[in-house]
Amino acid sequence: MHSYKRHTVTAALPYANGGLHIGHIAGCYLPADIYVRYLRSRGKDILFICGSDEHGVPITIRARKENCTPQEIVDKYHSLMKRTFEEFGIAFSIYSRTSSPVHHQTASDFFKKLYDKGVFTESVTEQYYDAKANQFLADRYITGTCPKCGNPNAYGDQCERCGTSLSPMDLINPVSTLSGEKPILKETKNWFLPLDKLQPQIEAYINSHDDWKPNVFGQCKSWLNQGLQPRAMTRDLDWGVKVPLKDAEGKVLYVWFDAPIGYISATKELTKDWEKYWKDKDTRLIHFIGKDNIVFHCIIFPSMLMCDGEYILPDNVPANEFLNLEGEKISTSRNWAVWVHEYLEDFPGKQDVLRYVLCANAPETKDNDFTWADFQTRNNSELVAILGNFVHRTNVLTKKYFDGKVPAALEYEKSDLILMEEMSRFPKKIGDAIEAFHFREALAELMNLARLGNKYLADNEPWKVYNTNPQRVQVVLNLSLQICANLSALMRPFMPFTSDKLCSLLNIAPLNWDAAGKADMLREGHQLGEPVMLFEKIEDFQIEKQIMKLHHTKVDNQPPVGATLAVARPQKPEIVFEDFEKMDIRVATITAAEKVQGADKLLKLTVNTGIDVRTVVSGIAKYHKPEDIVGKQVCLLVNLAPRKLKGIESQGMILMAENSDGKLIFVAPTDINAENGGIVK
Ligand code: MF3
Ligand code: ZN
Repeated sequence: MHSYKRHTVTAALPYANGGLHIGHIAGCYLPADIYVRYLRSRGKDILFICGSDEHGVPITIRARKENCTPQEIVDKYHSLMKRTFEEFGIAFSIYSRTSSPVHHQTASDFFKKLYDKGVFTESVTEQYYDAKANQFLADRYITGTCPKCGNPNAYGDQCERCGTSLSPMDLINPVSTLSGEKPILKETKNWFLPLDKLQPQIEAYINSHDDWKPNVFGQCKSWLNQGLQPRAMTRDLDWGVKVPLKDAEGKVLYVWFDAPIGYISATKELTKDWEKYWKDKDTRLIHFIGKDNIVFHCIIFPSMLMCDGEYILPDNVPANEFLNLEGEKISTSRNWAVWVHEYLEDFPGKQDVLRYVLCANAPETKDNDFTWADFQTRNNSELVAILGNFVHRTNVLTKKYFDGKVPAALEYEKSDLILMEEMSRFPKKIGDAIEAFHFREALAELMNLARLGNKYLADNEPWKVYNTNPQRVQVVLNLSLQICANLSALMRPFMPFTSDKLCSLLNIAPLNWDAAGKADMLREGHQLGEPVMLFEKIEDFQIEKQIMKLHHTKVDNQPPVGATLAVARPQKPEIVFEDFEKMDIRVATITAAEKVQGADKLLKLTVNTGIDVRTVVSGIAKYHKPEDIVGKQVCLLVNLAPRKLKGIESQGMILMAENSDGKLIFVAPTDINAENGGIVK
C-alpha cells in the first residue's frame, strides 16, 4: 500500500454522443470501479470522478445526423449514460458534465492563467474553410480520397478503411461534408501549447514512471521518440468553451484541453475541499482510460498541469486495450455493439454477470474478444457451478442440520487448520493484484476461494458424516460459512449486487476488507437470513436471441456522415393496391446457405417460411458469406413462380435493396419478435 493520504481516481469522460457499450465498460469504467470500491472498503479517503464530455466534433456530428442541436444531443445522452452507470453499479462520487457553468468557468480560467503566464505560442496557419457554410472545417468534416489506399470516403483525420491517420491536407479531392463543396484554404490564428519546448520536462516525468503498464509506457516512449510538436489548444468551432481572449471571436478551447479539466471542475462541484484532491502531493492521482486516450492523459494533460504549476501530476494511467465483439471491432456507426442499457433490460438484475465476464476477460494486456457463448459458459460453469453452488450447498446444509444457525466449531482437525491458513491469505493476494491493476488475476483468485470451499465440502462430505458424527459437521459447516462471509467481503469490488445478496443471505451488514481472512467472521449461534439464489443458469435461447439481435440490428453499409446520396432511379409507373396484394411476402429465416458450384454470384439457401421449408437461389454471393447469413430473418416473396437456376429450383425471392455501388443488402425485419410466416404488408 502506498503511503498516500488520499486518492483522486478518474475515469475518462465519455462523449455524450451515444450510449455506453461493453467496450467502454471493460476498457475503463469497470476496472476503475473495482479499484475504487476496493480502496473504499479499506477505509481510504478516495474520490471517484467522472462526467460527460459534451464538447468536440463528435457531438456536433451526432447532432447533424440526428437533425437536432448539439445541446439536445448532450442532454439526451448525458442522462442516458448517467442512468446506465448508476444501474450498472459504477459508483462515482460524482457524475458531472462539461456543459456545466462551473466547468466553463474552470476551463476558461485555466486557459487564461496559462495565457497570462505566456505559455502559449500564437500562430497563424491555413485551415480548410467552407465558404458556403461560412465556417472552418474540423478534420472530421472533410472527406476525400485516401492517399494510401484510394478509399474515396476517408476522413480528414483518418481513413477508416486502411486505418492510416491523416491530416486534411493529405486527402485527394477534399470535400466539405457540410455543403458538399470543395473547401478553400483560409488563414486563422490559434494558440498552441509548445510541447516541443516542454519535451525535456515531460520526458523526465514519463521516465520516472517506468512502473506504468508496458502498453502505456511504450506508447509514451514512442511519442517522445518521434519528437513532440506544438499543438493547437483553440479551434475554429462554435461548440465548446469560448476562448477567453478579445481577439478570439468564433473560437473555442480544443476539446482535449477542456475535457480533462472536467475532472477538476467535477471535483469542485462535489466538494469545497477540492484543492486537497488536486494540489496536495500526498494525494495520488490515477486516470483510468482506454488506449486511444493515452497521449492526452500521459503527455498533454500533464503538460498543462505542469505549466500551471500548482497541480499534482497523474501518478498512474492504467489504460486498457480494446474489447472486440464476436471477432469484430466494436463500432457505434455500424451498430456492432452490446449496449449496456439494453443488456440491463434483457437481463434484469444480472449486472454482476456482465461485470464478472467483462473483468474475467478484460483486455488488460492485449485486445480481447467478447462472445455471447463465453458469457453463457462463464455464467453457467463458473458463477453458477462454482461460486453459487458452494454458497447454496453450505446454506442448505446449515438449514437442514442446524436450523439455519451458525454451528459451533469445537475442535479443529489438521485439514481445518490448513484451510484456515489458506483462507487467511486471500485478502492480501486479491488486494495486491488489484493494487497492481491486475484485475483478471484478482478475480481468478476470488474464484479460487470458492473452489477451495467446494473442495473442502467434497473432502469432508458432511451429508454422509452427519449421522455418525454431527460434531464434525458443525466444524465443517462453521468453516464453510466463514468462507461465505469472506467471499461476501472479497467479491464486493467486483460484484457488489451479489455481495449484497450474500450479506442478506448470511444476515450480516457488509464487511470491510480488513476484517476478511479470519475464521471468526460469523459468530456461533448467529441466525442466517432467507435463502436466495446468487446466480441462475442462462439458457441457450437467451443467448441465441442476443446473437440474432446483434446481426439483425447491424448496419451493413454506413454512408459517411453528410455524404451526398447517389442519384436515385426515378419512380416506376403508379399501381393500385390490388397489384401489390398479389404479392405474398413473408418473414422467413435462412437456416442453411451454401455456394452454388460453377456460379460465383449464387447462393443456395434453405429457408423456413413458417409455411414450409424450401430452397431459394439468390444472387448475393458476392456480398454475403454463407456463414454470415445463417440465422438471419429476411422478407421473402413466396408466391413467385419457381424457376431453375444452375439446375436448382428456386422457390421464391429474397427482398434485397441495391446500393448505388451495386451492393445488395437485406430488407429484413429489425424487430427480433418477428415470426416466420408473418405476412409483410
Ligand atoms: N471523450 C473522450 C473519449 O471518449 C475522453 C475524454 S477523457 C478527458 O475518448 F480526460 F478528456 F476527459
Ligand atoms: Zn486508406
